[in-house]
Amino acid sequence: MTDTHPDAHHDARADPSVMRRAIGLAARGLGTTSPNPVVGCVILDAAGQVAGEGFHAYAGGPHAEVMALREAGERARGGTAYVTLEPCDHTGRTGPCSLALLDAGVARVVIAVADPNPVAAGGAARLRAHGVEVITGVLAAEAERGNAAWLTTIRLGRPHVTWKYAATLDGRSAASDGTSQWITSPEARADVHRLRARSDAVVAGIGTVLADDPRLTARAGERAGEREPLRVVVDTHARTPAGARVLDGEAPALIAVADDAVVPAHLSDRAVRLPRKPDGIDLHALMAELRGRQVVSVFLEGGPTLAGAFLREGLVDRVIGYLAPALLGSGRAALGEAGVTTIAGAVRLEFDGITPIGPDLRLELRRPNVHRDS
Ligand SMILES: NC(=O)c1ccc[n+]([C@@H]2O[C@H](COP(=O)([O-])OP(=O)(O)OC[C@H]3O[C@@H](n4cnc5c(N)ncnc54)[C@H](OP(=O)(O)O)[C@@H]3O)[C@@H](O)[C@H]2O)c1
Repeated sequence: MTDTHPDAHHDARADPSVMRRAIGLAARGLGTTSPNPVVGCVILDAAGQVAGEGFHAYAGGPHAEVMALREAGERARGGTAYVTLEPCDHTGRTGPCSLALLDAGVARVVIAVADPNPVAAGGAARLRAHGVEVITGVLAAEAERGNAAWLTTIRLGRPHVTWKYAATLDGRSAASDGTSQWITSPEARADVHRLRARSDAVVAGIGTVLADDPRLTARAGERAGEREPLRVVVDTHARTPAGARVLDGEAPALIAVADDAVVPAHLSDRAVRLPRKPDGIDLHALMAELRGRQVVSVFLEGGPTLAGAFLREGLVDRVIGYLAPALLGSGRAALGEAGVTTIAGAVRLEFDGITPIGPDLRLELRRPNVHRDS
């Protein structure tokens, strides 16, 4: 790489803009690095020119720092490395990145987010101990958002959950006769396929499976390689019909049933038995089951009943709503009973983005900082 970053200087003023570039690189790994974090790295040479760039592309593959150092070669000596996550200090499937940066003679390391994983943390301390200037917290909030799934999994010990819904302007997700296809535009639905492809698991309730018979797959063009997210149906009484599209074999499927359910033969190899709660499956047990299967990101596609249950249990981290410029006036609300009875109890969210998509609006929101441990 020979281009000069427009804001590159020897001083700290360039830090946010170069880090933003590193965050953009990290995002290229979304959907393929799981269960690892996404990480991006930019290395500037001593003159402030971009010498190398890299991102972590797949679990078991080289870390972002190693990719960027390879590209930078000798130009890394005396330069600055920008990394979205604290360089690891342990030998896993690859060697410690802290040592790789030291060996390359990098003089300064700028980090967005400290590594909360005790096994890998310590990279910043080791670099400092060897005389490298280390700056942390640059664009931390932005980098955290990019790594929300992995950070949630490390901090809370369960996968990160995005609840997605499509609704009319008056918040309805089906008409009073039960029809719901389609509320939003082909452009919005294509976006859903893109988000599915970036998730490790797509979850729906048995009500949705019986009503809409969804495939819950990501379209081929959106998939990262051959990887398909795990399809999960929350189905207390094992009612998923034999001909349901989620059982079509195009992607793995898991049917979460109660521990006392009578499981028919067509579900026997896909059913997993979980404890029962008054409303159905114990959703915390489901999260633990998915975590055990290396799932860090869950895309919850409803319906309203299951989404309400996830909210009640405090299991929704991000909401993506597609709002169509249409009115129904009657029919199911996008969200069912969520345990809120008074306005003071409303689940308050923060907007992360509002984007027109085709004729619709895409709203992205998150729970405010409840998961930050600092
Ligand atoms: N517009 C959208 O974005 C969107 C998305 C999806 C669905 N929909 C629409 O929503 C409708 C279906 O939604 P729905 O609310 O009837 O069904 P749902 O939310 O898909 O499924 C609810 C069912 O899940 C089972 N369940 C298992 N464990 C549960 C738990 N812990 N908490 C809650 N439920 C649990 C229950 O049935 P068992 O007790 O039998 O297990 C429950 O009745 C359809 O009309 C569909 O078109 C719209």
